[in-house]
Amino acid sequence: MRIDVVTIFPDYFTPLTLSLLGKASASGLIEVCVHDLRTFTHDRHNTVDDSPYGGGPGMVMSPIPWGEALDAIAAKEKTLRPVLVVPTPSGAVFDQRAAQAWTADPWLVFACGRYEGIDARVAQHYAKSSEWAGVREVGIGDYVLAGGEAATLVIVEAIARLLPGVVGNEASVTDDSFAAGSMAQLVEGPVFTKPQEWRGLAVPEVLLSGHHGQIATWRAEQARLRTAQVRPELAADGQMDH
Ligand code: ADE
Repeated sequence: MRIDVVTIFPDYFTPLTLSLLGKASASGLIEVCVHDLRTFTHDRHNTVDDSPYGGGPGMVMSPIPWGEALDAIAAKEKTLRPVLVVPTPSGAVFDQRAAQAWTADPWLVFACGRYEGIDARVAQHYAKSSEWAGVREVGIGDYVLAGGEAATLVIVEAIARLLPGVVGNEASVTDDSFAAGSMAQLVEGPVFTKPQEWRGLAVPEVLLSGHHGQIATWRAEQARLRTAQVRPELAADGQMDH
């Protein structure tokens, strides 16, 4: 999968060179390229924002450098069409289902907005461009971040770890909280490792039994209990599926 990121803070993306994502890049499973939006400006101050039409607080990102940056990126590869991803708290929810669906996209371009956001015509323009495969405005949760950078890191990590070969053990991905399949819409229950007893706390007996059927049943019940406790709205959704 090819991933381009446009931002005014390229240094924000050094985490992409570390750990799982770093290894995925090194092995060619993902190809990440970070671009500085300011290199697509032409004034002495490398201005990327302006005051909002209609008044109001803050500044809005100008469509001009965004258009130049996105056109330059799309022009680099003629055989694929990129999807433009715009992280924004006013977008549709990015969840595990979206992460799974987006693994099928060969090329994602992330536009990281700052200030009050990017001039709305950027999303409009690329949504109707035949050189692009669409525009997705997504939020990662009901809170407001200082910009799209942290959200982009979250989204890239959520997708990349689902790509075949990125996580060593396939089961650790299929058993995740929210993973598609039997545990859908449940959070995972507790996990334990050695020692068998730690500070007076014992590992649940069933996990030491070697009885795979009983262990699976216990885990499913723990997931159900925990979901009911911490995410009652998911537990309610889950019931409707049965
Ligand atoms: N930018 C600012 N807040 C955000 C959020 N919650 N999700 C995605 N992008 C954002």
